[in-house]
Amino acid sequence: MFGVPAAATLNVQQILDVLPPEYRSRIAESHPFRRSEFPGPVMRTEGRLIAAQGRMLDLEVHIRPIEWSDVPAMELRLHDVSDRKNLERDQALWHWEQEALREIDHQMVGVADIGKILDSTLRQAIILVRSQWAGVLRLSEGSEEASWWMVRSGSALIPERRFALEPACRTFLQHRGQAVLRDGVTEERAVVDCIPGLRDEGVATTVWSPLIVESQCVGALVVGYRHPVDVQARELRLMSSLAEKDSIAIMNARLYESVLARERELELLSAARGEAQEEERRRIAKQIHDGIGQMLTAIKFNLEILEDSVRVGSEDRERIAQMKTLLDDLMKEVQEMSHTLMPSVLDDFGLVPALQTLCEQFSRKVSVKAVFHNHGLTGRLTRSLEVALYRIAQEALSNVARHAAAADVTVQLIQGADRLRLVIEDNGCGISAEKRTGGLGFVSMRERASRFDGTLTVDSSLGRGTVVSVDIPMTGRGDR
Ligand SMILES: Nc1ncnc2c1ncn2[C@@H]1O[C@H](COP(=O)(O)OP(=O)(O)OP(=O)(O)O)[C@@H](O)[C@H]1O
Ligand SMILES: [Mg+2]
Repeated sequence: MFGVPAAATLNVQQILDVLPPEYRSRIAESHPFRRSEFPGPVMRTEGRLIAAQGRMLDLEVHIRPIEWSDVPAMELRLHDVSDRKNLERDQALWHWEQEALREIDHQMVGVADIGKILDSTLRQAIILVRSQWAGVLRLSEGSEEASWWMVRSGSALIPERRFALEPACRTFLQHRGQAVLRDGVTEERAVVDCIPGLRDEGVATTVWSPLIVESQCVGALVVGYRHPVDVQARELRLMSSLAEKDSIAIMNARLYESVLARERELELLSAARGEAQEEERRRIAKQIHDGIGQMLTAIKFNLEILEDSVRVGSEDRERIAQMKTLLDDLMKEVQEMSHTLMPSVLDDFGLVPALQTLCEQFSRKVSVKAVFHNHGLTGRLTRSLEVALYRIAQEALSNVARHAAAADVTVQLIQGADRLRLVIEDNGCGISAEKRTGGLGFVSMRERASRFDGTLTVDSSLGRGTVVSVDIPMTGRGDR
């Protein structure tokens, strides 16, 4: 078991070293053992010792007190359990690796920041393959350039500047697959030499694992050793797993970026559409007011002249009176239509008088009493913000009329130090949670608020009314 030719050549001290410390010291002091000192008939312990040719042995030791020529003595039975111990160690290592990989997976699910994910794979790479250096090399798309995306090392950090990559080197990285590059091999060293930084870091052996995104090599995960190393299959396997995770993270980051870009585009589009819609409304309102309104006034005027100048009977007079009443109603209707489309008071005098008028008209038309209060807003806001807040109030009031069954509604404008708030509060039936997502009203209110980085909140409980509030942050002079 020990690989020695004779018992006499055994290193007894070494064997004693596998005993628990308290026994070791007793033997060293040649202190006799007594059976009663033993915890049981046989004691079991484990230890390691180095056999011949430096072979490491894992031992299971059974210790039994005996009599040896009338002298208390100890019998040691040593079993070689190296195979079992090696398996246990492999298993523990595997669990440790899986735990590290799982931690990265966990991060990939919860974190959208690609930098954080790359950094954590670099950290794990250094620990798992016991390297001294790790980095992510990025190949620029459509150009001959490359750069270090992120690097972790004990010494100086390689700057994240771009550098030109020789075509041969680029081809090697893109097509070679996973590779171990050693200092001693000339052509391998040439690849390392054409990438700035590695030589300065004193890296002698590097392992390169390609990052593949949509079948394209976009870079490499690299770990470096400051001394020549015989890289094992286990290390290569781990590097592949880590590189795969980086590739997925890069792909996710790209998808996320494209979704964000699309969202920004949609926002711009919807803002432009909103502006165009308001402009259109303004134009139609003006045409109705100036065109149809003026014509109706002219018809009424001419009818009055006709009434005065022509002799008509009482029957016809009554008909003319009816026509005049109809014309009055029509004029009022046209005026209201034009006002709903784009109240001229909003353009001419601003949000405060426009909301005041809106509440007055609302109280007249609907059997809900609407009251307006302005707390501190003086002067004008930009036209687009005035229109947005007016439209939100209009939609909220229309909801009160249609759904709330309220007796009162209050509209308030509150100017704070760094924000403007519009609150519409009714004492109606309230909104149940499932109904809030039904229509387009809240969607469009929210969208209008978000165009000014504002937020819309709906606070409501059944039977206790609804409070719709819009908060708009005000930058600088508050006239955004
Ligand atoms: N003040 C309110 N009181 C009670 N319920 C309300 C109130 N405001 C909205 N609701 C409820 O919330 C739902 C969603 O409102 P929203 O304005 O988004 O859509 P809508 O008014 O149904 O339709 P749309 O506005 O698209 O014509 C309404 O259907 C209604 O049930
Ligand atoms: Mg609505």
